[in-house]
Amino acid sequence: MSEVDIRDLIPKDVIVASKLHVAVLGEEFISRAGIEFMSRYYNAWIKSDFGVAVGAFNEGKLVGVLLGTTDPGSHYKSMVKTSGLNLIVGLVVSCIKKSDFRKELVRTRLVRYTRGVAKLLYGRLRRHENYPIENEKIERVGELTHVFVDSESQAKGIGTQLVKKMIDRCERENIDTLTLVTPPESSARILYTKLGFKEVGGKTSSSNETYLKMEYSLAKSAS
Ligand SMILES: CC(C)(COP(=O)(O)OP(=O)(O)OC[C@H]1O[C@@H](n2cnc3c(N)ncnc32)[C@H](O)[C@@H]1OP(=O)(O)O)[C@@H](O)C(=O)NCCC(=O)NCCS
Repeated sequence: MSEVDIRDLIPKDVIVASKLHVAVLGEEFISRAGIEFMSRYYNAWIKSDFGVAVGAFNEGKLVGVLLGTTDPGSHYKSMVKTSGLNLIVGLVVSCIKKSDFRKELVRTRLVRYTRGVAKLLYGRLRRHENYPIENEKIERVGELTHVFVDSESQAKGIGTQLVKKMIDRCERENIDTLTLVTPPESSARILYTKLGFKEVGGKTSSSNETYLKMEYSLAKSAS
């Protein structure tokens, strides 16, 4: 097990975290938008009160990152509210500079992203109608969206420490379930299984990518 410091990412970590993200998860769609866009994305993530962004540091060097949220709905709303315009500008810049990225965005994501933003805005307009029902128990679900470790530091227990940190955070915030999706062939699937995540089904995105859905239950059984 490698000795690392695990702490929340702060704005000065954003560029190095973005570079590590693109280096380790280069195949991922948002990585292909480039480091400039990823820096905007990380800044937006860190600004949200519901975002979790932690890094593993070995002698001050960032060697691993975990991104997640303790309340996905509020988190993405917060990102749109505080940084939506900045992210759109970043996407437009990436589209101008990278024609392959532009074509893929238009072909696979544009409709979905537009629909998502419209839903968030519509939700805001209707906010006053959403009164909670008295005594209704609402399940609180957190989401782990990314975990990655520098290729030279993999298989030394760092990914495990990052995911445990997210589980601890969810426990502290009384989250009932921590959820994630991962490509079925990902090496992370073994890590999640070892930590107690259960496979709960598959999912094919509208961009035709297949994912495995996994959940970690934090709910205390009533006894
Ligand atoms: C997946 C990843 C985050 C795991 O982090 P890590 O620090 O390497 O993992 P750990 O050392 O904590 O290993 C935990 C367990 O996962 C398994 N594991 C980790 N990496 C593995 C690999 N490349 N192949 C097979 N099994 C692997 C091991 O069984 C290990 O348990 P063990 O040490 O008791 O045998 C890291 O390897 C990585 O960044 N991979 C590329 C990016 C990625 O796929 N991210 C996930 C999707 S966002």
